[in-house]
Amino acid sequence: MESHHTMPQPMPVTTVQLNHTAVYAKDRRLSAEFIAAILGVEVAAPFGPFLPVDLGNGVTLDYYELTDEPIQAQHYAFLVPDEQFDAMIARLEAVGVTYYADPDHTEPGAINRLFGGRGAYFDDPSGHNMEIMTRPYARP
Ligand SMILES: [Fe+2]
Repeated sequence: MESHHTMPQPMPVTTVQLNHTAVYAKDRRLSAEFIAAILGVEVAAPFGPFLPVDLGNGVTLDYYELTDEPIQAQHYAFLVPDEQFDAMIARLEAVGVTYYADPDHTEPGAINRLFGGRGAYFDDPSGHNMEIMTRPYARP
């Protein structure tokens, strides 16, 4: 008699949250202080080799120095309060960091209006492609 094996079904999970991730940096202090200053958050005390930046939703960016190999650029997107967006753009302008409307950085000095919100992209000191946006992506 043929047996019918079925894959065990995963239990429904409702509480998995991203807690922390390492962000590689050429200079962890420079990079952590840069994003903290732009976003208006704090750099925490060093934790071993990590320099943590706590975001408001329980996620920590643990800046970690990579000094002897090239850093692969990653993309980090921050959902920010609409009323703080202008201040963040002003801080980028104040420190002379160009922002762009698009992820490929072809529209300098412009913001986008995706999903009824506002957004912009800019490089961090290690070349990571950072994004601020006031509305999350709406996926079909
Ligand atoms: Fe993005």
